[in-house]
Amino acid sequence: MSNKEIIDQILKLRNISVLRSGVEVLDNISIEVNKGDFVGLVGPNGGGKTSLLLTILGELKPLKGDVIVYGHEPACRHNSGMVGWVPQMDDNRRDKVDQAIKMVGLIGMEDVDISRLSGGQIQRAVIGKALASESDFLLLDEPLVGVDRSSKNSLLKLLDDLCHHHGKTIIMVSHDLTAVTQSTHRIIYLEKSIQFDGPSKELPDLNDLAKIRGIVDPHSTHIHTHTTKLKTGDV
Ligand SMILES: Nc1ncnc2c1ncn2[C@@H]1O[C@H](COP(=O)(O)OP(=O)(O)OP(=O)(O)O)[C@@H](O)[C@H]1O
Ligand SMILES: [Mg+2]
Repeated sequence: MSNKEIIDQILKLRNISVLRSGVEVLDNISIEVNKGDFVGLVGPNGGGKTSLLLTILGELKPLKGDVIVYGHEPACRHNSGMVGWVPQMDDNRRDKVDQAIKMVGLIGMEDVDISRLSGGQIQRAVIGKALASESDFLLLDEPLVGVDRSSKNSLLKLLDDLCHHHGKTIIMVSHDLTAVTQSTHRIIYLEKSIQFDGPSKELPDLNDLAKIRGIVDPHSTHIHTHTTKLKTGDV
């Protein structure tokens, strides 16, 4: 490997498996991410997206395999401050905001009374701080949730610009397949193991993905039930 390749390689996961509460949630994952990559991480609920980001952050330790961030193990002094994190919005959001502020050093947020902000405002503040930080490698866990359409579009444009012109590297989790396909250049589809990793434009369509995942079209069966159809474009 040449020096340039070493410098340009931001992340290398080699055959990692991760257990949570004794259950394997990530199975034999290998991923390489290089400087300037804008990667979309998609997949069903419980597919392991957040667990993968927590493994990169060093919060979860893999049972097997290697995690290498900027040439070193995660969360060590060689790469501290270089990885920014926007956690997933859920009921524990405020705890997670505190955790994120501590982990990525979002200076200034300590003074904001977050109990007075809406979910979307918190989301935008956290993203803004992560983008403004020194971190060159950003892990964004569903940053588009709760953000209105015009903010979503400007955020995606900004992220694209950061990767292409400012040398940032981004992994973005989202269930919004349309937004991910249009903004990222590479998509990883994760369901415990990697089902697809390639150019965004080559992501199989939802029918083919369903076949890969073993999902049967409810209309092709003879069971008469009222089935809620999944919204096209979301996974
Ligand atoms: N704190 C936890 N303790 C034990 N198991 C957990 C914990 N958090 C998640 N899991 C399990 O790990 C698996 C992967 O969950 P994870 O949160 O990584 O999925 P995800 O792809 O981020 O899902 P979502 O799209 O719903 O955010 C699931 O089976 C989940 O039940
Ligand atoms: Mg998640």
